[in-house]
Amino acid sequence: QTGHTALDYGFVNTAATTSAITYIDGDKGILRYRGYPIEQLAQNSTYLEVAWLLLYGELPTPDELAAFDDRIRRHTLLHEDLKRFFSALPHTAHPMSVLSSAVSALSTYYERESDPANPEFVELNTIRMLAKLPVIAAYAHKKSIGQAFLYPDNSLGFVDNFLKLNFGVLSEPYEVNPVMSRALERLLILHEDHEQNASTSTVRLVGSTGANQFSSISAGINALYGPLHGGANEAVLDMLARIRESGESVQRFVERVKNKEDGVKLMGFGHRVYKNYDPRAKLVKESADEVLRELGVHDPLLDLAKELEEIALEDDYFKERRLYPNVDFYTGVIYKAMGFPTRMFTVLFAIGRLPGWLAQWREAVNDPHSKIGRPQQLYVGSPERNYPGTA
Ligand code: SDX
Repeated sequence: QTGHTALDYGFVNTAATTSAITYIDGDKGILRYRGYPIEQLAQNSTYLEVAWLLLYGELPTPDELAAFDDRIRRHTLLHEDLKRFFSALPHTAHPMSVLSSAVSALSTYYERESDPANPEFVELNTIRMLAKLPVIAAYAHKKSIGQAFLYPDNSLGFVDNFLKLNFGVLSEPYEVNPVMSRALERLLILHEDHEQNASTSTVRLVGSTGANQFSSISAGINALYGPLHGGANEAVLDMLARIRESGESVQRFVERVKNKEDGVKLMGFGHRVYKNYDPRAKLVKESADEVLRELGVHDPLLDLAKELEEIALEDDYFKERRLYPNVDFYTGVIYKAMGFPTRMFTVLFAIGRLPGWLAQWREAVNDPHSKIGRPQQLYVGSPERNYPGTA
């Protein structure tokens, strides 16, 4: 029979996996990385310290963290040929397409050092990915605005170097804004891992075939690009801007969502797991006001987002479906206030998620029971039949 879905047969997410990295309780709005609550890590830790925690299961000692940071700084340069790769793409290319293509291209420089069964290569390529993805991302940004690429500055930490690569220009010195630096660090931490979401499952699936880290991460970037997943942070800003430019009332827009007119959704709302408030959304909303105030930015789209949230949370349609803001609902307003173009928002999500992808890839590849990923299927197509004239 056609038109039936797996749910009709009682199949629900049969492709379960075990993991020791991240714990989520969707009803209680709990998120922990290796047992540490996300609220404590976002408030007190750094992107690289959390990356180490996700990769190795424990917080690093000060010496381990210093060595990790130093190793990453020494791998930020891209091969000069790879810089020319960007000139082959149109300046109108979406930065997420540039990112996944460039990461795939990156693997061509390390083919003799990318055997996933070699622990030394796995460590080295983890460092290379963490060091070079921000540079590739910044080059995608610079390309989209027609500005010259800068070289990484090894005197700066991870986040500050990334900000300088994006907003520095050759013609003048660049001063990192500490408010932007701390806000971006916190946002990246909030994105570092999230259990078996679509892009992480993609990274694990590709890794389970024996593909190297670069190829697996490139696949994850492509999965994240989708507007129902990481692309939602870009879609939220587009949605808010459209409402504002159209002059449509928020109430009227919400009615259109409820009537599912033209398939319109309230982007940044809903989640496969959180059927209560996404703890990350709460933290992002709290810092949005503070960051915009400290940056001296007033953005009417933030007020519009809050009005939209207030109306939706009071509306039975959303309450019955347990739809709450997710991590993507408020992040874009902060990224915009920092000066990132909307099409860079999902690229920022990818940089945040990279440590989780790398940690989950290792877990999948090192799992002694690991089999090549192959979701179950229930065949609901035509029964056996003969080709005309063969019966
Ligand atoms: C991320 O998995 C992860 O962990 C992802 C992530 C991570 O960190 O990796 O958290 C990041 O991807 C967050 C989600 C970002 N996406 C969006 O904001 C896009 C808008 N959200 C929806 O597309 C949706 O909520 C999903 C895809 C996120 C979740 O969909 P579900 O849980 O499969 O819910 P569903 O599609 O079964 O919907 C249930 C009902 C439906 O209504 P009915 O058919 O029952 O009448 O809720 C409705 C849906 O139409 N619904 C929405 C809605 N989300 C669900 N209606 C309006 N607006 C929405 N956003």
